[in-house]
Amino acid sequence: MSEVLLSVPLVIDTDAGVDDAFALMLALASSRAHPLAITTVHGNVPVRQATQNVCLIQDVMGREVPVYEGASRPLLGEPLDATNIMGPDGLGGVTAWMQPSMRQKRASNAAIALTQWLRHRAYSAGITLVTLGPLTNLALALALQPDLPKHVTRLIIMGGTSEARGNASAVAEFNFFADPEAAARVLRAGFQEVWLLPWETSLRYPIPWSDFDALLFPENPRTQFARYITGYLRERLQGLGMPGLVLPDLWAMLVALYPECVRESVPVQASVEMEGALGRGMLAISWYQTSAEPNLHLVTHLDVGRGVEILRSILAGGG
Ligand code: RIB
Ligand code: CA
Repeated sequence: MSEVLLSVPLVIDTDAGVDDAFALMLALASSRAHPLAITTVHGNVPVRQATQNVCLIQDVMGREVPVYEGASRPLLGEPLDATNIMGPDGLGGVTAWMQPSMRQKRASNAAIALTQWLRHRAYSAGITLVTLGPLTNLALALALQPDLPKHVTRLIIMGGTSEARGNASAVAEFNFFADPEAAARVLRAGFQEVWLLPWETSLRYPIPWSDFDALLFPENPRTQFARYITGYLRERLQGLGMPGLVLPDLWAMLVALYPECVRESVPVQASVEMEGALGRGMLAISWYQTSAEPNLHLVTHLDVGRGVEILRSILAGGG
């Protein structure tokens, strides 16, 4: 009998940049996903813009998943942004020529919403939490509800560096660099099953430009949106000599919904450096300290051919 794949009850925390948008399009369209709630956080753009971006993405996908706005700044220090690469609105400037969404966020703050949704009794099979931005909301939720990890079946994180090849500093990836204290708190909170998609793994698997162009035909509202939001990022990645579109959050969502696409992962003990002018935000991995109890599965290789085919289906209007 063919394996019946139940849809995954999903909560998504996002800073709503370009790659977050592809991850959200996958989660909102895939028959394998049952998105329960989306929470927004500072990161690529200010949190208010992230909320507007999520509502716009739901317009494109025709979905009404509850949206909760969260932290506007990290636990310590000032918020960063990535508008230099994602565009002024985080989505390549698309909001300048698309109608603003009429959708409204819910009243609760994201941290409160996380404590409520992640302990929702209706989903005894367990909820998968996917984090695509700085971990401030989750860290605040843990402060409110320290036993939260026992309610979360799987935590999928896009963040950190596996080889200290930083994109936000010399050694730190943006989501962890934007709030190192939050990232450190989450990694030591005792979640049952953590899968981490680091920056270097997404660098290993860009979508070649010609392959991405082929995904944009035949045209429809989803492919047009995908074209609009990627123009600004494409110029910058090509200026950096990248051979294709780098979409870390999409690959993190692929791990969450299509775990068979994980070709290689390694259980490691990892923590986040919070001190140091050079090292702050770096993911420190105990590769050889065998006594160190693993706290996450580091995803190193993916079946991105399958991932591109799944993306093609979603953009073509499939699920
Ligand atoms: O470093 C890449 C991560 O930072 C991605 O999640 C991107 O959207 C930004 O949030
Ligand atoms: Ca993101």
